[in-house]
Amino acid sequence: MNLRSSGFPAPNRDPTAVVTPTSDAPIGVFDSGLGGLSVLCHARARLPAEDFLYVADSGHAPYGERSAEWIRARSLTLGEFLIGHGAKALLIACNTATAAAAHALRERWPGVPVIGMEPAVKPAAAATRSGVVGVLATTGTLASARFAALLDTFGRDVRVITRPGTGLVEAVERGELDTPATQALIASHVEPLLADGADVIVLGCTHYPFLRRWIEHQAGPSVQVIDTGDSVARQLAQRLNDARLLRSAKAAGSERFWSSAASDTAERVLQRLWQADAQLAPLPA
Ligand code: DGL
Repeated sequence: MNLRSSGFPAPNRDPTAVVTPTSDAPIGVFDSGLGGLSVLCHARARLPAEDFLYVADSGHAPYGERSAEWIRARSLTLGEFLIGHGAKALLIACNTATAAAAHALRERWPGVPVIGMEPAVKPAAAATRSGVVGVLATTGTLASARFAALLDTFGRDVRVITRPGTGLVEAVERGELDTPATQALIASHVEPLLADGADVIVLGCTHYPFLRRWIEHQAGPSVQVIDTGDSVARQLAQRLNDARLLRSAKAAGSERFWSSAASDTAERVLQRLWQADAQLAPLPA
C-alpha cells in the first residue's frame, strides 16, 4: 500500500466557506468506526488514483444505539473535519449515519457530492427463491424512516425479517473476527433468520463484511449473503465522473486514517482489517 504522506491540501480550509471541489483533492470517508474500511477497500479498487481520507469515529461507536439527532450533529462535525482537509466528496461508509445524516450533509455542502449507503433490500428481493429476506443491521438503521421507505419500495413482494446485530460492531472494533465468542454471537443472529426461512441475508452495516466468512459458514451454502460495498464504490466513481471530479494523475493514490479512539491496539486492528501497513492518527477534538 502506498502511504504517501504529502500532497494533500493543507488541513486548514475553512469548512464554513462555500466549497468548490477540485479533481485533484482527496475523497473524505467516515464511519462510526473501522467498519467503513470494508467500503474503502472497494473504493480503492475502483479508483486506484484517488487519495482517500478516512475517519473512524471509534470513540463514539456504536452509532446504532444513539439518537438520530446525535448522529446528525456528529456527522456534520466529521464532515467539517474532512472538508477542512480539502475533501472534494464525502462517502458516508455507514448505513446508520446515512439514514440519520445524509440529507443534512447534502444541505450543508450543496456543491460537494455526498454518497451514502443503505441495506441491499432491492437486490435481495430479486435474489430470494424462498420469498424471505433477512436483514442484519443496527437498531438505528432498522428504526429509520429511510429503511421504512426502502421496504415500502422494494420489500413489498417478499417477507423481510430484520434483526439488529447487537454486539457485532464491538467485536469488529476489537479485531475479534473469528474468536469462539464472536462465532457464537454470529450464530445467535443468523439462526433466527434461517429458522424463519431466509435464503438471502443482507449485511446492512459496514462492519459486518469483516465477519462475512463466519456468517456464510453459519448460514450454509444455500444462503446468499449480500453487502453493498462494491455498488456504493461504483456509485462514487460514477458521481465523480459525472461531476468531472476524477483525479487525472496516473500515480497510485494514498490513504490517511484518523480515529477518535486512536491507540496502538486500534492501529493494529486497522492494519488487520486494511491488510496493509497503515498509521492511525488521533482525531483532534
Ligand atoms: N458501520 C455502521 C453501519 O454501517 C454503524 C455501526 C454502528 O456504529 O452501530 O451502520
